[in-house]
Amino acid sequence: MNIKSEAILVMDFGGQYAQLIARRVREQNVYCEIKSYKTTAAEISALGYKGVIFSGGPNSVYADKAPKCDPQLFELGIPVLGICYGAQMMANSCGGEVASSAVKEYGNTEVAFDNTSVMFNSVSENSVVWMSHTDYISKFPEGFKVTAHSADCPVAAMANDEKKLYAMQFHPEVQHTKEGKQMLHNFLFDICNCTGNWEMSSFVTTTIQNLKEKIGDKKVLCGLSGGVDSSVAALLVHKAVGKQLTCIFVDHGMLRKDEGDQVEKVFKEQFDMNLIRVNAQDRFLSKLAGVSEPEKKRKIIGEEFIRVFEEEARKIGKVDFLCQGTIYPDVVESGVGEAEVIKSHHNVGGLPEDVDFTDIVEPLRDLFKDEVRKAGLELGVPEFLVWRQPFPGPGLAIRILGDITEDKLDILKDADAIFREEIANAGLDREINQYFAVLTGIRSVGVMGDGRTYDNTIALRGVTTNDFMTADWARIPYDLLAKVSSRIINEVKNVNRVVYDITSKPPATIEWE
Ligand code: XMP
Repeated sequence: MNIKSEAILVMDFGGQYAQLIARRVREQNVYCEIKSYKTTAAEISALGYKGVIFSGGPNSVYADKAPKCDPQLFELGIPVLGICYGAQMMANSCGGEVASSAVKEYGNTEVAFDNTSVMFNSVSENSVVWMSHTDYISKFPEGFKVTAHSADCPVAAMANDEKKLYAMQFHPEVQHTKEGKQMLHNFLFDICNCTGNWEMSSFVTTTIQNLKEKIGDKKVLCGLSGGVDSSVAALLVHKAVGKQLTCIFVDHGMLRKDEGDQVEKVFKEQFDMNLIRVNAQDRFLSKLAGVSEPEKKRKIIGEEFIRVFEEEARKIGKVDFLCQGTIYPDVVESGVGEAEVIKSHHNVGGLPEDVDFTDIVEPLRDLFKDEVRKAGLELGVPEFLVWRQPFPGPGLAIRILGDITEDKLDILKDADAIFREEIANAGLDREINQYFAVLTGIRSVGVMGDGRTYDNTIALRGVTTNDFMTADWARIPYDLLAKVSSRIINEVKNVNRVVYDITSKPPATIEWE
């Protein structure tokens, strides 16, 4: 079975919601891709999408250079759902009118629905939705009927059943829209006639089969970091071609306590993988000796990482494929070309230049992060790896302020392990999106027993966030902080003070360096 035989296209008009819409569609087991609003009707038709969804966007349809889709799209007979800006653009393109209102309608809004419309089948007559707009559809186009309205919005939704064109002024994809899931379900299954064949188990089986065909009897090389993406990518390839895959795990010595051993154990013992672990801590520490500047540390680690990887790869000789853990948000083209900048400076290294390979395999290229996790669980990856919180490539090096030594690493590893253990014991490890200890480089005076101490200060950092671009400091219960603090002071040598970071991002960043 080709699980991509049915797909929905989300056309990105520059809003922040295109990826969220795509995830909501996939949650209903329908495969979905995001492409620019510039994709032509001919391309859409040729690719055989079962339906198209227009995302919202920040523009007014009357603005200069307002993004518009190919008008032929409305004539294809393929179902289209316009959301927010997408709804206004549909109205405007099909002969209706859009006007600017003096007040912005924003937030939870009660809307009355015509639930004889297939779009709102099984939706309550009155239901709360999330609105966020200034412009509104003031006159609906010929051939359409109004299927929902609110006190301030005469056309909260409209439909042209004959042409299969549907529009909503509000956002069905956000959780505030109480029955948004049902509405998307109606669009996908009753209007687009999808069957819902996008399931992780079939993704895993099909991907393994495809990898087998693509790789044949050739050799694959993969850099394993212990992060969820590279782990799942490597495992898929391993299931497909077994020992034809060699993984190189460069342990730069700045991983969390025992992490290197855990990674090795999982992949060597549980999965019997061909894994080469390179213990390169000394090499990294000597390159980093005396270096305090954060960006310089990042650069040194990034470069050294690639050098070590290349040296190991050279020992293996020519390989045919390099396996990469690229995921969908890394490759999705954004509608207006702005949403991509975010992560680049964070990636350690990039592609090795000096490794002899002819092609790349990227088995996770189509998946969102939550889907990678599901695939990982399907494949039997242990939960601690699947749910591993994000960990920066340069590791603890950017959590030790100032220069790095083995002693400092030991202190930080021990303090961090206690913090993580207590967060997990309290059952907060999935609620707090990232949490760790920092060795601040501050020494301060304390008293222990009868003696004066002059020792290190550990800072604890915990944040809640959706996208890691902005974050709030986590409201960790005082009693839990107290327990962590007293355990760190008692169990970790050379620490006499523990503080908790109560700064959001912005203005601070999540990491201290
Ligand atoms: P900041 O500190 O910029 O972090 O608020 C945002 C997210 O990115 C991670 N981060 C990094 N990841 N290499 C990485 O691979 C890096 O150099 C790096 N710096 C920050 C950070 O842990 C957080 O999840």
